[in-house]
Formats: sequence, C-alpha cells, structure tokens
Amino acid sequence: MNSAMKARSMLAALLLAATAASGAMAQDKISVTTEAAVAASEVPADAIVVEIDKLKYQTPDLTVKVGDTVYWVNKEAMPHNVEFVKGVVNEGGLKGPMLKRDEAYSITFNEAGSFNYHCTPHPFMRGKVTVE
Ligand code: CO
Repeated sequence: MNSAMKARSMLAALLLAATAASGAMAQDKISVTTEAAVAASEVPADAIVVEIDKLKYQTPDLTVKVGDTVYWVNKEAMPHNVEFVKGVVNEGGLKGPMLKRDEAYSITFNEAGSFNYHCTPHPFMRGKVTVE
C-alpha cells in the first residue's frame, strides 16, 4: 500500500467513525422500548396504556410528557399493530410488530410533537400521541 492509498483508507476509516458517532448521538424522536411484542402481564401497573379493541385504539388521542413510555395492548383476537409513517426514527417511520390478543408493545417519546399512527393492515384505525 503506497502512502496515498494509506491516506485514503485512513480518511475512509475516519469518515466511518464520524458517521457512527453522529448516529449514536442523534436521538430519534421515538424509541422502541420493547424489541418485540411482550405479554400484557409484563406491562407495569402504572403504565400509560392504549388498549386496542373492536378495531379501534380506545384512547385515540393521547397526551403525554417528553420521556413517557406508552404501551399498546391488544384486547381482541384480531391482530393489530402500531405504525408511524415518517419523522420518528432518523426521519423514517416505524412499524411495530403485530400484536395478538393480550400482547403489548411500547414506545418512549423523546421529543415534543404530534405523532400520528395507524394499524398497518387496517389503515382506518388511527391514533395520535401528543408529546408536551
Ligand atoms: Co388493526
């Protein structure tokens, strides 16, 4: 490897490191707090919960504070999820796992804002979390 090649590979390594560092420091507007669906029994008793039942988010308009975690719990046999279209994770969207009956999924809201979501297979199921 000649010195020009060495310089180029060092520069590439530095750029990679800088990209990784800025990625780690940039905070997404929402963070997934359960990597997958969990049993509803694992939801803390004092949690903020949106129940899903009868093809609806039962608290479709919810207001929380920055740093709050919201759990969605499916109460019916039909599977549902929670999908945010854009602007939440690296400006992209987030599609939560399908929840069977008595399964839960949680998200922590890191920034103030208004976050609309829907159910992927049932786009008419809509909800909003306002973070103050
Ligand atoms: Co649904």
